Amino acid sequence: MEFHTDSGVVRAVNRVSFDLSPGETLGIVGESGSGKSVTNLAVLGLIAQPPGKIAGGSVQYDGQELLELDQRQWQQIRGKKIAMIFQDPMTALNPFLTVEEQLIEVTMLHLGLGRTEASQHAVQLLQKVGIPAAEKRIRDYPHQFSGGMRQRVMIAMAISCQPDILIADEPTTALDVTIQAQILELMKSMQEEFGTAIIFITHDLGVVASTCDRVMVMYAGQKVEQATTRELFNQPRHPYTIGLLNSAPRWDQSDEQLQAIDGQPPDLLNLPAGCSFHPRCQFVQDECLQEIPPLVTLNGDPPRQHACLRDLSTCKGGEPG
Ligand SMILES: Nc1ncnc2c1ncn2[C@@H]1O[C@H](COP(=O)(O)OP(=O)(O)OP(=O)(O)O)[C@@H](O)[C@H]1O
Ligand SMILES: [Mg+2]
Repeated sequence: MEFHTDSGVVRAVNRVSFDLSPGETLGIVGESGSGKSVTNLAVLGLIAQPPGKIAGGSVQYDGQELLELDQRQWQQIRGKKIAMIFQDPMTALNPFLTVEEQLIEVTMLHLGLGRTEASQHAVQLLQKVGIPAAEKRIRDYPHQFSGGMRQRVMIAMAISCQPDILIADEPTTALDVTIQAQILELMKSMQEEFGTAIIFITHDLGVVASTCDRVMVMYAGQKVEQATTRELFNQPRHPYTIGLLNSAPRWDQSDEQLQAIDGQPPDLLNLPAGCSFHPRCQFVQDECLQEIPPLVTLNGDPPRQHACLRDLSTCKGGEPG
């Protein structure tokens, strides 16, 4: 996944692959700019080309190659089978239509509801995501809602057709903790009832620990580690993951014990040679400056993966496969 810009070609996502089973929650974590949003926008065919370009790869859903769909075929899938809670609510909401018009449009189109029915359904959805006086507020325009309220409207829209896959890009970042808990609970109950698979993009490792089955860690547009949540927290293998875990606040630690990862993520136009993480890595060795670490898969159920030369030589508990 590339962007062709005036300064050159930005390779925003490279060599990233993952799968998702019904009812599963996959977390995606990584610093700002690591490619989390672009990866998922590409999955949904939502990267404008140009400046974007999907230079290779494949997205399979239910036996279909999504990269080959035309606009009409996308209409059958986007919003209905695969829905997204966008990081920026205004990407999803039309400023010129009331919330009601937007919500009922989706369910009339995809679920074949009549206008009255769709309207009642929409009010229920708004109540579910915690919007007070939903019957009245539904006639407002997006700009009449606060940021957090708009986010909830978007969440209501994303879950309105009970999609098979819900991509949630920082869904609760703008919300206070009680609402956040309520939304997470809502997503979980939808998952239990309908077997929804969820891709959960977040900076909050606490939320990852409590909601995700597996986690993919991204750095500079690449997958550097993937494991079950338990494995990742108990035995992180990639130095970047170790850094992320050490820099996350925990209830049993004082602020002084937090260790931020030194340095900044690299400029994607000018990636360091070898491993892109090497300038910030506390375990760096000579070979890391020359060799791009391959993604190694360790046997297990599910298999875990990591891309680090150091771990290749010292790893225990699994055979490189
Ligand atoms: N339209 C675009 N043109 C050029 N570069 C882009 C464009 N959209 C995204 N990028 C670049 O792609 C990279 C990945 O961006 P992305 O939004 O996926 O990051 P992210 O991991 O979601 O970050 P955040 O945590 O801040 O949301 C960034 O370096 C970004 O600058
Ligand atoms: Mg993002």
